[in-house]
Amino acid sequence: MSLAPYQPHCYFPLSFDYPSSQCSTLSGRPAVSAMSLWYLFSALVGGPGSVLISVLLLILSVRLWHKSRLWDLQCCSTDLTGKVAVVTGANSGIGKVVSQELARRGARVILACRSRERGQQALAEIQAASKDACILLGEVDLSSMASIRTFARWLLQEYPEIHLLVNNAAVCGFPKTLTPEGLEFTFATNYVGPFLLTNLLQGSLQRAESARVVNVTSFMQDCGYIDEEHLTGAGGPLTFNQNYYCSKLLLTSFTGELARRLQGTGVTVNCVEPGIVYTGIMKHFSWLYRFLFKLSSFFLKDPKQGAIPVLYLSLAKELNGVSGKYFNSSCVITLPPKAAQDPVVAQSLWNASVRLTNLDKTD
Ligand SMILES: NC(=O)c1ccc[n+]([C@@H]2O[C@H](COP(=O)([O-])OP(=O)(O)OC[C@H]3O[C@@H](n4cnc5c(N)ncnc54)[C@H](OP(=O)(O)O)[C@@H]3O)[C@@H](O)[C@H]2O)c1
Repeated sequence: MSLAPYQPHCYFPLSFDYPSSQCSTLSGRPAVSAMSLWYLFSALVGGPGSVLISVLLLILSVRLWHKSRLWDLQCCSTDLTGKVAVVTGANSGIGKVVSQELARRGARVILACRSRERGQQALAEIQAASKDACILLGEVDLSSMASIRTFARWLLQEYPEIHLLVNNAAVCGFPKTLTPEGLEFTFATNYVGPFLLTNLLQGSLQRAESARVVNVTSFMQDCGYIDEEHLTGAGGPLTFNQNYYCSKLLLTSFTGELARRLQGTGVTVNCVEPGIVYTGIMKHFSWLYRFLFKLSSFFLKDPKQGAIPVLYLSLAKELNGVSGKYFNSSCVITLPPKAAQDPVVAQSLWNASVRLTNLDKTD
């Protein structure tokens, strides 16, 4: 049998019409493997398949690149037995992976979710993955200050010590909408909610002696600006989705201010951006955006990879005592946007947030 010479633009033949005597193995089955592989290879390299090969290689390189820039979770020996962790938005995406890893390391994890049904499903999945996981569901709607207060009261009563709070929940893709409490919905969920919850839990965090607060922000904060009036739906103009960008910028500014205020208490506060991760974060966008997001998903991090920077801030021993920092998706301390570096702006935002949440009056 002689192999056909390499033809740069020949296509992979779908059927083989060689005489069976020529193309059969000892077992009598057609010996298509070597031939077909050869044809497939020549067709792919030389024909339009080269586009496919290039795309596959590109995907592979991007994935390897993501992997090479990730902190090695397996090398971290932090044991969380006896510790209590609260993760908001724990029923999907990054929050679910983070919760699972914390539970795997022995922590008692409270999944803070707004939907009992989705929360219970996540809880069942995490429990199925690690049988000894000690996880509980806590219901909280972070866009509602009343709901946060009820949740925080329950937590403080049940858990006098909280060692880790991950402010992960967020929404994006919503137009300007006011909540019944008079807050702008996206700002309420992404900024006011974490602000209020963290402050209400301060007693339990400080009692833990050594505790961490991890705020999940976004690189898109670079496209935001700080205007306190946005919190109530007023303020400067916002382009499409800029309420999300601005709310994340406020969260970063809050991180710095809270860290300054908690100096010497044993509670550290840092924020991190996970990179571009293929999760349900775009679920409120139009089908076109969701379609494009899905199309690009091959090049994006998956939730497990997206959770690594958040886990780094939650677990890494070398971060003991490190506070008020912004970490990029490669777990490197980076300067946040200028507006979030300004302590005067941060203090003013803090005061406005205290007024809006009545933090000074009731708690
Ligand atoms: N994915 C990315 O590319 C990316 C990039 C930069 C930053 N981030 C940040 O990463 C974090 C996690 O997002 P993700 O990508 O994992 O998206 P996700 O899967 O959509 O997770 C967001 C979580 O927040 C919860 N949530 C939303 N509104 C809530 C509310 N009012 N009360 C309580 N929980 C609420 C969601 O619950 P429901 O299921 O009930 O909606 C969901 O569990 C977010 O802070 C996001 O801004 C993500």
